[in-house]
Amino acid sequence: LIGRLNHVAIAVQDVRAAAALYRERLGAIVSEPVPLPEHGVTTVFVTLPNTKIELLEPLGDNSPIAAFLARHPEGGMHHLCYEVGDILAARDRLKASGARVLGDGEPRIGAHGKPVLFLHPKDMLGTLIEIEEA
Ligand code: CO
Repeated sequence: LIGRLNHVAIAVQDVRAAAALYRERLGAIVSEPVPLPEHGVTTVFVTLPNTKIELLEPLGDNSPIAAFLARHPEGGMHHLCYEVGDILAARDRLKASGARVLGDGEPRIGAHGKPVLFLHPKDMLGTLIEIEEA
């Protein structure tokens, strides 16, 4: 079922400041900010040799990361994203195993233009898990 680690996502208050930190302090390759109103976030991707870091800033009034940032005002790790082959087959297998899929259970198009789903952290060792079709 599970493939590569696609990215680790970190929620931040200011994605431009976070991008500058990764670029200047860590010498990383960092994208421009991309607003994703449908997901309620603005994203920056940091490209590492073996995976990516997704920096997330809340966008709009109902951002899904607003409550997380209220609990972690300094920022913090928000989710992990694993690649899967067939996202609908992966979803059905995960649901059959008792993992809850967030939202209406239908994949949405994520930051990379690929379908994604999120799994409830209470079913996944306290970690919000995103799965993305590779
Ligand atoms: Co993500």
